[in-house]
Amino acid sequence: MYQPVKIAPSLLSADFMRLGEEVAMIEAAGAGFVHIDVMDGHFVPNLTMGVPLLKSLKPATSLVCDVHLMIDNPLTEIPWFIEAGADLVNVHAEVLTEEELVRAVAMIHEAGCKAAVALKPKTPVSALAPVIADLDMALVMSVEPGFSGQSYIAGSDRRVAEAAALARAAGNEAMLIQVDGGIGEVTAPLVAAAGADVLVCGNAVFKAADPAAALQTVQAAA
Ligand code: DX5
Ligand code: ZN
Repeated sequence: MYQPVKIAPSLLSADFMRLGEEVAMIEAAGAGFVHIDVMDGHFVPNLTMGVPLLKSLKPATSLVCDVHLMIDNPLTEIPWFIEAGADLVNVHAEVLTEEELVRAVAMIHEAGCKAAVALKPKTPVSALAPVIADLDMALVMSVEPGFSGQSYIAGSDRRVAEAAALARAAGNEAMLIQVDGGIGEVTAPLVAAAGADVLVCGNAVFKAADPAAALQTVQAAA
């Protein structure tokens, strides 16, 4: 059945002095998720937001709180983010062994949350294999993680198609595919055609003159 692509605006590009208004604006504009980029200054060079922000955000929105953990030690931190209100937890495959990846997904599911595994642009899609049958979502990064406002890496749509094929082969037809980095009006149709279900948008939404209209333009383009 056809499901419209959902937009997940990334708060990293929002105005932190007006965060409440920004979240209300994306919700009114029809966003499906709110994407929270957690960075630790180790896995990526940047430091951003964490548990206290999620705690304040959760009761203020009915959007799916989509937590993207760009951190070295997700196994230690997962329970904190779940307790703070995460609906969906994204862990990076690069920081976990196969056994730890299985453990992370199980830990997220046992807490009643949705589990996703994120891949940096150079990580083979086959890194999803140990958990793909159980995943709610895979996150294909289309920029190197760390900063918003970067350009989409050409060919990322092929990785989306690869992830979709891997999920189908594992019998996980329900797995969503999220794409993150450099997504806007021009790149959204490429990744949507390759099978993306959820598009993260940072600058394309929050840095637009009319962010609500920009969100709807990207969604329509997809
Ligand atoms: C990058 C983050 C992204 C980023 C997206 O490490 O994971 O979510 O904020 O921003 P844009 O859409 O501007 O590339
Ligand atoms: Zn992200």
